[in-house]
Amino acid sequence: KVEGLALTPPMGWNSWNHYGCNIDEALIRQTADALVSSGLRDAGYVYVTLDDCWHGTRDEQGNIRPDPDRFPSGMAALGDYIHARGLKFGIYSDAGSMTCAGRPGSQGYEFQDARTWASWGVDYVKYDWCNTGEGADRRNPREAYATISRALAASGRPMVLSICEWGDNQPWLWGRASGHLWRTTGDITNCWDCVIGHGNWQSRGILPILDQQEAIRAHSGPDGWNDPDMMEVGNLPTLAENRSHFALWAMLSAPLILGTDVPAMRPEIAAILTNPRLLAIDQDADGIAAFRWIRTPEVEVWAKPLADGDWALAVLNRSGQPQAFAIDWSQQLQDGTNQRDGQLASTTWAIEDSWTGRAAGTTAQPLDLRLEPRDTAVFRLRQR
Ligand code: GLA
Repeated sequence: KVEGLALTPPMGWNSWNHYGCNIDEALIRQTADALVSSGLRDAGYVYVTLDDCWHGTRDEQGNIRPDPDRFPSGMAALGDYIHARGLKFGIYSDAGSMTCAGRPGSQGYEFQDARTWASWGVDYVKYDWCNTGEGADRRNPREAYATISRALAASGRPMVLSICEWGDNQPWLWGRASGHLWRTTGDITNCWDCVIGHGNWQSRGILPILDQQEAIRAHSGPDGWNDPDMMEVGNLPTLAENRSHFALWAMLSAPLILGTDVPAMRPEIAAILTNPRLLAIDQDADGIAAFRWIRTPEVEVWAKPLADGDWALAVLNRSGQPQAFAIDWSQQLQDGTNQRDGQLASTTWAIEDSWTGRAAGTTAQPLDLRLEPRDTAVFRLRQR
């Protein structure tokens, strides 16, 4: 792979969660403009990725072309539009014969497609796993993603590779060799604690995805990230749920890919997504995913060591009721994978509320919290 393209978790927008197949060049341009005018670009959300359904057919030479009705100006022009606004251009394809929505896949066309995408100015490729064969005839995922990775490198244009294999073949064990991030689960959906079945496919809410991340956290880090899927921030019903989803993804050092209607984004959602202290936690140079430090049936405290020696803590109320919760600071911070352990008891730390930036006392006293239903408080512990 082309190394060093994702030293911090990639940030941007992708069309799928909100629009599905209903995309065209006007929508992509409006979204690019809104990323700039809302401040989201300046906060770091730079990748503008067209997910499934931008495709038309292949020409007689096998070159992939966009849908001529939805993208009449062509992809190079769209790439120029995106780049002219200080953004980067992302695209979607699939390791099989067809994409998940039945458009042409890249199997057998890997090097040709990579050259085409490079000629359009593509900077980021999300590469899906549908229609890759059944049973013993199924493609080998390591081989399939290594092939597209080599093709991207051979194109001469640096492109981030987002592996979208859904976690079935443990991509955290091999994805780093080929790609810069890899999906760890089936598709996210805009609900808090549900799993929705679609035949043999399931889509998951925020808590079910969160619960799958801790066991694999040690595999995530600079230039190779566990991807708990694109965000539903802005699509969840309550502000508390949107806040929690964002805070938890930041604690995991997850890729932060917006999946909402950017031109219609409410200011309170933009404020969540651009919070500089939460973004600093996500984008921390060490990229160590948080672990569950304290756990009760209703409330969990996730802890993440930061590059400068500080700690980020997220106190999540999983329940639908308000919860009172106190942290008494006597417990050791031990993450179990020897990435970094903390000594809370031996020093007094200053506590900063990461949502507001306000001082919240020190670890000399217990921290008494009252958490709204499904909300998450976030703190940064600073050494003094
Ligand atoms: C799969 C992926 C999704 C999305 C759709 C598009 O389900 O996991 O993220 O790309 O395909 O069809």
